[in-house]
Amino acid sequence: MKRRNAVKAIVLAGVSSPSLPVFGHQPSLKSKKAMWNKTKFTALLGIDYPIVQGPFGGGLSSVKLTSTVSNAGGLGSFGGQPYSAKEIIKISKEIRKFSNKPFNINLWVNDRDARLATFGDDDYKKLTALFEPYFNELGLPIPERPSNLGTKFEEQIEAIYEAKPAIFSFVYGIPSANILENCRRLGIKTLGAATTVDEAIALENAGVDAIVATGFEAGGHRVSFLRSAEDSLTGTFSLIPQVADQVKIPIIAAGGIADSRGIKAALALGADAVQMGTAFLATAQSNASQDHKDKLFTPDAKYTTLTKVFTGRLSRGIRNRLTEELKEHENLLAPYPLQSKFMGFLKSYPATTNSNPDFKAFWAGQSASLLKYRDAKILMETLVKEMNGK
Ligand SMILES: Cc1cc2nc3c(=O)[nH]c(=O)nc-3n(C[C@H](O)[C@H](O)[C@H](O)COP(=O)(O)O)c2cc1C
Repeated sequence: MKRRNAVKAIVLAGVSSPSLPVFGHQPSLKSKKAMWNKTKFTALLGIDYPIVQGPFGGGLSSVKLTSTVSNAGGLGSFGGQPYSAKEIIKISKEIRKFSNKPFNINLWVNDRDARLATFGDDDYKKLTALFEPYFNELGLPIPERPSNLGTKFEEQIEAIYEAKPAIFSFVYGIPSANILENCRRLGIKTLGAATTVDEAIALENAGVDAIVATGFEAGGHRVSFLRSAEDSLTGTFSLIPQVADQVKIPIIAAGGIADSRGIKAALALGADAVQMGTAFLATAQSNASQDHKDKLFTPDAKYTTLTKVFTGRLSRGIRNRLTEELKEHENLLAPYPLQSKFMGFLKSYPATTNSNPDFKAFWAGQSASLLKYRDAKILMETLVKEMNGK
């Protein structure tokens, strides 16, 4: 039975009232207030709370953050995107030193834009001309076109098989049936990201175990794979109930959730868990630079934008001089990962060190200005306390 019909049937049977939120997929709705944390997703992984710390690419994840959140009863995640297979195995061992709880390793299935094949030397010249004033201003040389832009995913997936995290999450597509089968055989649960209802359906049809349905409020990249990111800009409030009507596997809501009000809303809309990114990025345990963390607590955090400037792929961060001045010139930017390599020369990407705020990628979601906590353990404890009604 589709979830909407199930809810209707429960209401008709007098178990619930239409004015009360119906949380996740609970076995019994009679004691639902006490059971907010018992969902299909917590059952899948055997974790205490349906709160996922979102993975961060670009080197912004940390062993400390992942293990802190897992130890606090949520699901800690680590973004493996920039790392080699060897490094991912080492990172997983490190996480296990600090936590014996389930954790998630995340990869980008598609980590190389097809447009790279047609991005010629003339295009690169136009790109350098666009950025020349900035390189000059910083006294930096104009870089030669970077090479070595091969895909990492095929090598990284081998590390997943070896590291065997409880859950392997992925973005920008669906891994092959063979990969999904290998994960099943090894007891690794799979979690795919959807930015549209059609992507959620495709993920369920491929046999993944759960879906992160991510609204366009989210910080970081817009990880669409069926249509362009620009054509997949659904907000979390619209996306979650639509996905809930169409798929049966657990749904994790992501994008714009920064406090317990967001968690309650997501569960009421049909999610089985939430994934929070920006709120955890701001904590001492993340690998974001101090200037980035501090920026998230300034009034500037009220104004985010979707931009391709930093990596060549659409992503959300706090507006700054670069995002605003180059807004009308995004057609000249290079595809991923060439653009991100190029921005590395301008010290704009990755954002792991303090650098010039005019040029830096201050990744943030639209709810950044709701942030209050600078410690991941305190953030987790506060969310749980508030969800428990204390
Ligand atoms: C800096 C940054 C990097 C991110 N990198 C990844 C990534 O590599 N893989 C991924 O699945 N999600 C990534 N995300 C998305 C988060 O895991 C999470 O889904 C998102 O931040 C939720 O929205 P919120 O920021 O509004 O809480 C990233 C988010 C941020 C802010």
